[in-house]
Formats: sequence, structure tokens, C-alpha cells
Amino acid sequence: MSELPMTVRVDGLPDRVTIYEVGPRDGLQNEKTVVPVEVKAEFVRRLVAAGLPVVEATSFVHPRWVPQLADAAELMTALGEEGRHLPVLVPNERGLDRALELGLEHVAIFGSATETFATKNLNRTFDEQFAMFEPTVARAREAGMDVRAYVSMCFGDPWEGAVPVDQVVTAGTRLLDLGAGQLSLGDTIGVATAGHVRALVAAFGDAGVGTDRLAMHFHDTYGQALANTFSALQAGITTFDASAGGLGGCPYAKSATGNLATEDLVWMLDGLGIEHGVDLGAVVATSTWMAGHLGRPSPSAVVRALAG
Ligand code: HMG
Ligand code: MG
Repeated sequence: MSELPMTVRVDGLPDRVTIYEVGPRDGLQNEKTVVPVEVKAEFVRRLVAAGLPVVEATSFVHPRWVPQLADAAELMTALGEEGRHLPVLVPNERGLDRALELGLEHVAIFGSATETFATKNLNRTFDEQFAMFEPTVARAREAGMDVRAYVSMCFGDPWEGAVPVDQVVTAGTRLLDLGAGQLSLGDTIGVATAGHVRALVAAFGDAGVGTDRLAMHFHDTYGQALANTFSALQAGITTFDASAGGLGGCPYAKSATGNLATEDLVWMLDGLGIEHGVDLGAVVATSTWMAGHLGRPSPSAVVRALAG
């Protein structure tokens, strides 16, 4: 069995993409098993060693809201100097203070395109979430931090149904206007399809937000994440969020399952001859090792094919 696909280039796609690894954060926030902090530190180190250029390490959210990541400070302390440049989620100034105390350099805020999810995930209305983020981003920028913004429920919401493209563009541009450098468009419950992806990227373009400022964050609930990624590549997107082994989900969005698996993404990019800098074998080995700690096999098709 071949461990690499044959490479066949397709005209019009980018030559190189950035894979933004979210396994330690999006993956582990949704696991029933609470993973010991030293295992988390090892997970992060192995992902960095596998060549992943960005590894989102954890969240400085309220520990009651996400108990799986209650050890965020301990983890970042364990990682030490190596962890300072790794991004972490912060929803508010309290989270930012915790990140600043540890000397971290890169934070991500996370907003919602819908009223219902803003309430359920952040305990804020749609408008109130921006009031919470505004001083958070301003202070982070003053401290010289790099700020990413997520917008969730970009394609559909389990309570509100289909989400109008204009509503997503409004939420996303408001987050960028606060001072975020990059906007990651979250398909939180995995309902996006390829044409919808093209339409959303085009709508951001019409609003003056180019593909250089956008990232795509697909969950694979309906098995569409790779098709959606290909569609986004055709639209010129060059940053893709993915999770080693396909771990992931959101504890506050019913029906959110794992992210696009890093290994599945790497396999497709290798086939297309698109550079990414990641060692596929090392990520597969890491996901297999983590699956042992979690007590369940990886949902990634590529991990299952290569590790079997
Ligand atoms: P709240 O209860 O409204 O908080 O929660 P508050 O501002 O009213 O404060 C209440 C108490 O919590 C205060 O303590 C604060 O200090 C404390 P007291 O004065 O009563 O002793 N507190 C905190 N403690 C530690 N860290 C903090 C913090 N903030 C307040 N950061 C809050 C509001 C935003 C905090 C809460 O709703 C929360 O933590 N939500 C996080 C939910 C979450 O993490 N969801 C998953 C991540 S999002 C996601 O997965 C989607 C994504 O992957 C993209 C996609 O797929 O679409 C990114
Ligand atoms: Mg997510």
C-alpha cells in the first residue's frame, strides 16, 4: 500500500497553504475523557515537531464552561518558552489577563453569527458579544499580541437553521473591525456544502475582505469537509484549520462533531502538490498515540488507512 498519493496538480489552486492545527483545543474541549496535562503537553509538542506551523494549544475560558481545558495555565506553564507563540482562545478580558500573565503572544476571540449561539456559547446577545470583545482585542493589540477571530455558525445553526450569508459577513466584518488580523469562518456543525462555501467567500470579497484575511474551519459532521476545502482552495483560501485525528466539536452546539482531520487534509494537499510542510507519518503516529489515551479509534479515514 502506498503511503503517499500520486501528485497531480490542478491549475488555479494555491502553491502553498498554512494548516492551523486545533486538535489540542477544539479536539480536547469536546472529549469526555479529561486528558492529563502532561499528555496534552506531549500532544502539542509532537504536533509542533510534525511541522504544523500553528498549534492552538488551549482556551482561557471559564473552567466551569469547559472543564476539559480547566488546566490551561498549567499546560502553558508546562510548555514554557515553547508555548509562548502558540495561540489560545480568550473570550473576554479575564481570559486575556490570564494569557498575559503567562507572557503569551497570540490569542483568538470567538464570536457567533447567530443570536442563539452567542447566548448559548458566550452568555451574551449577538450585540453584547462585540462589547465583550472590543476591550479584549484593544488591550491585546496594545500588548503587541497577534489576534485571530473566529465566527461560528457560518453555514447553519442547530437552533436557527440556515444562516443568511449577509448575516455572517456582518458578524465577521465587525470582528475584523475590532482589530483582528485573521477571520476564521466556522462551520461549527458541519452543514456547509461546496457551493455555499464559494458564495460566502465571494460575499466577504464583495465586502472588501480578501482571501488573505480568511481561514476556513470545517467540521466533518456530514462528511463534506474535504469537498468544502477543495472549493475554498479554488476560491483562493490559503489557511485551513484542522484537527489531528479528526478530534473535535463544540460542547455548546449539539450535533457538532470532529473537525476536518489534519491527516485527511494533508493527504489531499499532497495529491494536489500543494505545499504545507507537515510530516504526515508523524501526525498519524501522534493521533494513534492520542487515540490510545482517549480510548477510542481516530475518526480520520487517513489515520485508519495508514495506521492499520
Ligand atoms: P459568564 O458567566 O457570563 O461570565 O460567562 P461573567 O463575565 O459574568 O463572569 C462570571 C465569573 O466568571 C466571574 O467570576 C469572572 O471572573 C469569571 P466571579 O467574579 O463571579 O468570581 N470568568 C472567568 N474565569 C476564568 N476565565 C475566564 C472568565 N471569564 C469570566 N475567561 C464566558 C461568559 C464567556 C466566560 C463563558 O460563557 C465561557 O467561558 N464560554 C466559553 C464557551 C466555550 O469555550 N466554547 C467552546 C469554544 S468556541 C468553539 O468551539 C467554536 C470554534 O471552534 C469555531 C467553530 O467551530 O465554529 C472556535
Ligand atoms: Mg470548531
